Amino acid sequence: MSKMWAGRTSAQTAKIADDFNSSIRFDKRMYKEDITGSIAHAYMLAKQNIISKEEADVLSQGLASILEDIETSKLEIDLNCEDIHMFIEQELTSRIGDTGKKLHTARSRNDQVALDLRMYLKNEADIIVDKTKKLIFAIIEKAQEYKSAIMPGYTHLQRAQPVLFSHQLLSYAFMLMRDIDRLKDSKKRMNVSPIGCCALAGTTYDTDRYFEAEKLGFEKIVLNSLDGVSDRDFCVEMLSALSILMMHLSRLSEEIILWSSWEFKFIELSDAYTTGSSIMPQKKNSDMAELVRGKTGRVYGDLIGTLTMLKGLPLAYNKDMQEDKESIFDACDTVKMCLDVYIGMIETMKAFTDNMKKAAQGGFINATDLADYLTKKGMPFRSAYKISGEIVSKCISEGYVLETLPLEEYKAFSDLFEEDLFEEIDLNTCVNKRKSVGGTSIESVENQIKYLKENL
Ligand code: ARG
Repeated sequence: MSKMWAGRTSAQTAKIADDFNSSIRFDKRMYKEDITGSIAHAYMLAKQNIISKEEADVLSQGLASILEDIETSKLEIDLNCEDIHMFIEQELTSRIGDTGKKLHTARSRNDQVALDLRMYLKNEADIIVDKTKKLIFAIIEKAQEYKSAIMPGYTHLQRAQPVLFSHQLLSYAFMLMRDIDRLKDSKKRMNVSPIGCCALAGTTYDTDRYFEAEKLGFEKIVLNSLDGVSDRDFCVEMLSALSILMMHLSRLSEEIILWSSWEFKFIELSDAYTTGSSIMPQKKNSDMAELVRGKTGRVYGDLIGTLTMLKGLPLAYNKDMQEDKESIFDACDTVKMCLDVYIGMIETMKAFTDNMKKAAQGGFINATDLADYLTKKGMPFRSAYKISGEIVSKCISEGYVLETLPLEEYKAFSDLFEEDLFEEIDLNTCVNKRKSVGGTSIESVENQIKYLKENL
C-alpha cells in the first residue's frame, strides 16, 4: 500500500513490517478524540489565517461526517492503515479532496497522538471515578444493613479485638475515596494540551496554541515542545492510581474469599456472582473475587511495562511510545470491568451475623478490655496486661472463656475484680466503648457514613 509518508523512501515496506508497525488495532478507539482535535486544529489554522475560514468549514464538515459514519457503523475503520490518525486524514481527503491535505499543517502525529491520548484518558478517569463512587455507595449500604453485627477484628489473621462488620467494610470505602482523589489528581496533569508542539521543536507558523487548547477543554498548555511530545507521565500516574485501586479491591477480594469459606462462613455471595465446579457438586466458588485478585497482577504489569518502556528513551518521540496505549487501555478496561462486577457482588452479598458473633466470642478478643478494666481501677497497664494473660491461659487449659470464668476465680488473681467485670467484657460493650474518633463503636460508624456521604 502506498504510504502517506512516501517520498524520502519508496515506501515499499514489507507486509510483516507494516503489521508490526501498525497501531490501528488498538488506537482506533480514539477516533472521536482524533476528530474533535482535528476540528479544533482546523479552526485555529483559520483564525490565524493559515487556511481560509471556508476551508476550515469544509474540513470540519468532512470530519464531522466521518465521525457520524463511524458511530452509525456506516464507515468501517480500515485496519490496513498504520494508525487512526492516518486513517482519518486519508478518509477526509478521499471525501473532500485536496483541502483535506491542509489539515496536517502546523502539527505532527507526535503532538496529535499525545493530545488524543490525554483527551481519551481524561474521560476514562471520569468514568472510573464514577464507578468507584457507585462501589462506595454499595459498601455504605451494606454497612448500614449490618450496622451492629460484631465480628472478630484480626491482626496477623489472629483474632485480635471485636469490631463491627460495618466498620471493617467502611475501611474499604475510605481506601476507595483516596483512589478517587488520586485519579482526580492525575487528571490535573493530564489536562495540559500538547497540541502545537508539532514534531518536537514547535513550528514556524503563527499558531495559537492557547485557542486550540481552550477549544478542547484543556486548562493549560505544555510549555516545552520536546516535553509535550515525549511526556507520558500522565499514563504512569494513572496506571499507578489504577494499580493502587486494584490493590484495594484485591485485598477486599481476599477477605471475601476467606469469609465465604466453610471455615469462616461469615458471608455468602449471591448465586449470580459465584460459580460451581464441574466435578464437585457441593462447590460454590468466589470466582469473581478471585479474578479481581488475579487481574490486579495484570494492571501492575501494565504499570511496570510502561515505566520500563519509558526509562531509556532519549528525547523526543520514539516509536517505543506507541506501546503506551495497549497498557493504559488494558488497565482502564480491566478496572472498569472489575468495578462493575464488584458493585453487583457487594450489593447482593449476605452476612451470617451469628457466625461472626460466635467467632468473636471464641478467641479471647476481649482480653484487652479485661486488662483495661483493671487499669481503670488503678492497676498499672503492664501489670494488668500480665494478669489478663495469665487468666487467658487458665481459661484455655480449663475450657473456659472470659465470659464464663466464675468471679471467685478472677478474685484469686486480683481483688479489683467485681461483678461489673462481666458487663465490661461483654462484646457489645467492648465495641461500643470504642468511641474514639475512627473507632469501631456504632456512633463512630455512623459518623464515618455521614462523612463519606458528605464527601462523595
Ligand atoms: N501510532 C503512533 C503512536 O501511537 C503515532 C505517532 C507516530 N509518530 C511517528 N513519528 N511515527 O505513537
